[in-house]
Amino acid sequence: MDFIKSLPKIELHAHLNGSLSNATLLKLRQLKYGDDTNIDPQFYQIMDANLTLSECFLKFKYAHDLTDSWDALKLATECMIQDFALENTIYLEIRSTPKKTVSLSKEDYLEAIIAGIESSSHAHPNTLVKLIVSVNRADGPTAAQENLEVALKLHQKYPNIIKGMDLSGDPLKFFYRDFAQVFVDARNAGLGIAIHAAEVNEKYEDVKDILDFGPDRIGHGTFVEESGLQNWQTLRKKKIPVECCLTSNVKCGTVKNYEDHHLKKLFQYGHPVAICTDDFGVFDTSLSQEIELTAKHINLSNWDLMKIMQHSVDFSFASDAEKKMLHEKLDQFKKENLEVLKENI
Ligand code: IMP
Ligand code: ZN
Repeated sequence: MDFIKSLPKIELHAHLNGSLSNATLLKLRQLKYGDDTNIDPQFYQIMDANLTLSECFLKFKYAHDLTDSWDALKLATECMIQDFALENTIYLEIRSTPKKTVSLSKEDYLEAIIAGIESSSHAHPNTLVKLIVSVNRADGPTAAQENLEVALKLHQKYPNIIKGMDLSGDPLKFFYRDFAQVFVDARNAGLGIAIHAAEVNEKYEDVKDILDFGPDRIGHGTFVEESGLQNWQTLRKKKIPVECCLTSNVKCGTVKNYEDHHLKKLFQYGHPVAICTDDFGVFDTSLSQEIELTAKHINLSNWDLMKIMQHSVDFSFASDAEKKMLHEKLDQFKKENLEVLKENI
């Protein structure tokens, strides 16, 4: 565990409103509802293994109520970054769906997160943070187009922060083709594309459409193989990296147990994978814990974990100069820990 604690980490798949610790939720509740308040984790965390996936998505409403103002979003972002920084995360991509609230436009919503990222760059200079603008499937194509427009506008203004677009939300809502043009336009404008794909054992036509488009990365990818040999071959041939979120999949019931997680097979095939938290608050986990669980249940060595971090840098949305800097940090760690790395091969 000491090795994992000190390992410089890369997080590529973390939703803002799913990545709030209990301490952060309490601060946010106090900000909105005053001092005389406390939190009940069961409103936010998944404590019942029998929830359906759609019921899991209702959990986010608790956070959305608390992050509906500029100050709250900035605070939530700062707290999330702090939590990852404390785990020695050297690179973090936050993703979030811009929302209109009583006091915010979608643009304000993203600006508040960016303000939190900028203020954190002083407090946590060792953690480089980027923002991915999400599209929530459940909100439909018109909202997706709005998100694209605001993402493109802010990408112009903050080219070093806004780096990509994501498709997430309840996978049973709408079809990928309903959003396809948004992702073509985002890619043409220079944004990286990360899409939740094959998260459930349904809608196989979606999987094909997503893989044919060829995002820079996919989230989960749990049922790519079940969705058809051709899809599996496309994933492998295009070497599309898969962001794996073990606890998220186990707690949402899409993967039976850690040992059966598809990361195992992908890793054995030499397919690019990243170890990610998804929503560490909702799933009551942490990046260190996810790395530890992967090592334990998938039987990965320290050397394997190191390699996964290095590959994650390669398919991150950081600039080339930033990737070089991140690789240097990992190389330095490798040099200093050569004995521990060798022991565990
Ligand atoms: P937000 O975009 O910052 O509000 O983060 C929470 C949102 O992320 C949820 O409302 C979902 O739309 C999305 N999300 C979080 N986890 C998952 C997942 O595992 N699959 C699909 N969407 C997710
Ligand atoms: Zn996700």
